[in-house]
Amino acid sequence: MGRLVVVSNRTANLTKKTQAGGLTVGIVDALKSQDGLWMGWDGRISEDISAPKQEKYDNVTTLTTSLTPEEHEKYYLGFSNKVLWPAFHYRLDLMDYRTEFADCYASVNERFAATLAPQLKQDDVIWVHDYHMIPMAAKLRQKGCGNKIGFFLHIPFPSIDVFSAVPRHEWLRSCLLQYDLIGFQTVNDVQNFHRYLKEHSDADIISPELVRVDGRTIHIGHFPIGIDVKQFAQTSSKPDDTVELERIRRKMLKRFQIISADRLDYSKGLPHRIKAFRKFLDLYPEYQGHAEYLQIASPSREDVTAYGDIKSELEQLAGAVNGKFADFNWAPIQYINRSIARSKLAPLFKSSLIGLITPLRDGMNLVAKEYVAAQDDADPGILILSKFAGAAEELSEALIVNPYDINDVAQAIQKAATMPLAERQLRHRKLLKRVTEHDAQWWQREYLDALLGKTERPQLIHQFTKHSPIHLTT
Ligand code: F6P
Repeated sequence: MGRLVVVSNRTANLTKKTQAGGLTVGIVDALKSQDGLWMGWDGRISEDISAPKQEKYDNVTTLTTSLTPEEHEKYYLGFSNKVLWPAFHYRLDLMDYRTEFADCYASVNERFAATLAPQLKQDDVIWVHDYHMIPMAAKLRQKGCGNKIGFFLHIPFPSIDVFSAVPRHEWLRSCLLQYDLIGFQTVNDVQNFHRYLKEHSDADIISPELVRVDGRTIHIGHFPIGIDVKQFAQTSSKPDDTVELERIRRKMLKRFQIISADRLDYSKGLPHRIKAFRKFLDLYPEYQGHAEYLQIASPSREDVTAYGDIKSELEQLAGAVNGKFADFNWAPIQYINRSIARSKLAPLFKSSLIGLITPLRDGMNLVAKEYVAAQDDADPGILILSKFAGAAEELSEALIVNPYDINDVAQAIQKAATMPLAERQLRHRKLLKRVTEHDAQWWQREYLDALLGKTERPQLIHQFTKHSPIHLTT
């Protein structure tokens, strides 16, 4: 294989010693071993986009460009985050489509492709990431690029009715079919794409994982993204005095902590979760004074109206629960609306009896995997996970819930709070095994091997039995 060339909306800061998030960890490792090139947005908004910046760290080169104010508004906030993001997360009601958004989305992809094309070598392998960059292969092909190009979608691929409601979905489909490998997070995503192609394209569909169009063969597969398990487990074990003090305080007062950490996004189901916690306190009053729910919600995409709306709703809901139940020495909800360093987050996960991860829809949800990696094998916490998170396909030994069903979630909290140690340990062992097997390195290797045709991937469609009941045998 020649160099690896990665294209994504954002790039990582490669000067940092440790990288956050599976995407970055997996990609940086792959780039380092292949003298890679990473192209993307530098995170700045500027009228001056004339000179893309090229920098080298170790043996990885980054090629970055700013976005103009108009591109930021129409490509990033507009088509990417007011059209594709809500639609792919089943929120057609929040989709705000405008023709100029789609036009600008196409032209930013064109500009990125025009910047990248002259840098490409014949044997480079190109890996494009996520919903901001769907047209990248088509734009590169128009410039004569015959290289292998793969695409990985980090967010869900929605069901046929939802995807076909996205204006210009036919164009998006034709763009996707310019790749050599289309990677999704889950079997469910592959199946949705397959059903859509069957209904809405003339492609010759050999199987859900193989399609022929215009003499080209396109491979399709699912590659559940993972985390750097070792690194996160190590971080969770580093002593943190304030977290430890809190843990001891709770122990003395016979209290336990429930933790959630998300970007403040409407897809994460935060209001439903607070309502479920309130229901739990109503249904099981013996936990009043004993259960503490810590919600960390890091600000995100604040220029999009729907994100401001969810923020106000949450503040109001959390305030109402505290108003009703709090005592002079106990507050049921601690709501933090800012990012928390991973060095603090990991020990916080470790010291929480319950990880409550209940998105209404999520491509994967790496927080679920991080919660598992952070646990103490001898006394592990229990993961409550939404059936609509991609991670639920792999993590069936979590308590799987329907986040729309407030009672279901409330009862799962009660079940977790009373679960015997032996059952917690058994579930944890199985979860940790899966999270460790499918870590960030596995993800990038699987994907790149498939893109290079090194592996004849088995038909994975039936590998996971979705939400199968767990058999508690050792
Ligand atoms: O896949 C969704 C995603 O792009 C993640 O990779 C990332 O954590 C998040 O959204 C960040 O969003 P943004 O780049 O819009 O801040």
